[in-house]
Amino acid sequence: MERKWWHGKTAYQVYPKSFMDLNGDGIGDVPGVIEKLDYIQELGAEILWLSPIYCSPLADQGYDISDYFSIDPRFGTMADVDRLLEEAKKRGIAVIMDLVVNHCSDEHEWFRRACEDPEGPYGKFFYIRDWQEGQPYPCNWRSYFGGPCWNLLPGHTDKIYFHAFHRKQPDLNWENPELRQAVYDMINWWLDKGVAGFRIDAIINIKKFLPFQDFPADREDGMCSIREMLARAKGVTVFLEEMADRTFRPHDAFTVGEVFDEKEEELPLFIGEHGCFSTMFDFSGTLLNKSPKGWYDQKPVTMEQYKQAFFASQRRVAKVGFLATILENHDEPRGVSFFLPPEGRTETGKKMLGGLSFFLRGLPFLYQGQEIGMENTVISDIARVDDISTLDEYQVALDAGLSPEEALAAVARLSRDNARTPMQWDASPNAGFSAGEPWLPVNPNYTRINLAEQRGRPDSLWSFYREMIRIRKDPELAETVVYGALEPYLEEREGLMAYFRRGERTLLVAGSTGGEPQRLPLPGRLKRVLLNNLEDYKEQAGELTLAPWQFLLLEVE
Ligand code: GLC
Ligand code: CA
Repeated sequence: MERKWWHGKTAYQVYPKSFMDLNGDGIGDVPGVIEKLDYIQELGAEILWLSPIYCSPLADQGYDISDYFSIDPRFGTMADVDRLLEEAKKRGIAVIMDLVVNHCSDEHEWFRRACEDPEGPYGKFFYIRDWQEGQPYPCNWRSYFGGPCWNLLPGHTDKIYFHAFHRKQPDLNWENPELRQAVYDMINWWLDKGVAGFRIDAIINIKKFLPFQDFPADREDGMCSIREMLARAKGVTVFLEEMADRTFRPHDAFTVGEVFDEKEEELPLFIGEHGCFSTMFDFSGTLLNKSPKGWYDQKPVTMEQYKQAFFASQRRVAKVGFLATILENHDEPRGVSFFLPPEGRTETGKKMLGGLSFFLRGLPFLYQGQEIGMENTVISDIARVDDISTLDEYQVALDAGLSPEEALAAVARLSRDNARTPMQWDASPNAGFSAGEPWLPVNPNYTRINLAEQRGRPDSLWSFYREMIRIRKDPELAETVVYGALEPYLEEREGLMAYFRRGERTLLVAGSTGGEPQRLPLPGRLKRVLLNNLEDYKEQAGELTLAPWQFLLLEVE
């Protein structure tokens, strides 16, 4: 396999709005990210993914872009971004931006012009259709954030436009070569500026199943999930290949696709040796227990499910390429709250979960706060919820007959706000995030869980993450950690997740996932213990006993 500059790196996702607010307006900003570059370097991450900071009405927190070429004043200026790129480079950190091109904002100039002249060139940048009051829409697909995918075109009574996400996020028409060219020009403009690549948002949605048509309804609202159309749409890779050829490849850019619902045969086209992305996220954990009825119907995930899901995805991609492994991101609840049972949410348990995830074969992406074990927040009032997805799911739960209290409890555990509370830097007011009032309340547990408390403590979760990142770069171990094959061990044993990484060396990664001690026969001589989330370990006659929640990274013969 050809070696790439990004293979051995660890990536860190910053959600700028909640990372560090330097001017005290309660909103994190680019100068705040610059100030924390030393921190990111100290942690050891070498790829920095910034969630969107472009001009945006923030209907979906910046994933609704009104100008791809300027920075939202709430986040800073283009000069700040230039400085960020420069300062990051000095520290050996490659910055990747979020590329949101399935849709733009309804406040983007393209859309405004389309409203003025739907038959003109910008009208063709979108999916606009004729419609009469009382008529059915061209299709009955339910948008990701609830309700139909169609909305009246502003300024018109007889025209509608398509949006897969929020009505303020009109979909761009990728069938139109002029639109595609405009997107490529924009991408190249950023790459020429010095960004190292992109995280590519919602990209699978750019290929629509056309002509628009109804599919069988899956809820009483008469609509069907938009994922149904993804299952039927064919040919997304034709667009992706063209985009890669005209933009990413000539720049040797690093790209990570946000891809759900890919088809088996597409995997090599996405992340194979000559794929159109460098990698894509492994959402196998995220997707566990999703219910077609909605969040209220989703059962808690177990560590057994976690193990099976990740082993399955490891098998699927082993011969193809690398996935980007994640425990969480800005769209998910906190990983430790989602995957660990309440009794496992200790520093020990969090280290175990972090370790099992980090050493999978793939490219680890950490999300801000994961390295200190930030947990879900307390959501006790729907009026204080910001996330549009949570608001929609709350309504779905009410419509299904849940009481307001039940509905709130059901959606709180899955809300995207859980990941979006401000970064917990220290125990000072607002967790050291802002001198003003944070746009989203800080998690009340910040006095206990914060970076300052963990940074200097050798046995903290933070130190553990830092050590994992160091091991990934260690010249003696990198070949095995980065490229070594993954082989599950004692896979059927409940309460244990263990696997080998076989390369120049043989590593054994093992965690006791169920709160019970676990016997772990060693297949060969134990050479050294590289990581242990407890002080000791028990070895006897070629066998280790893992204490509850114990995690070990071993080198064996
Ligand atoms: C992606 C983003 C999410 C956003 C959506 C629409 O899933 O990660 O935050 O709401 O796309 O752009
Ligand atoms: Ca600010």
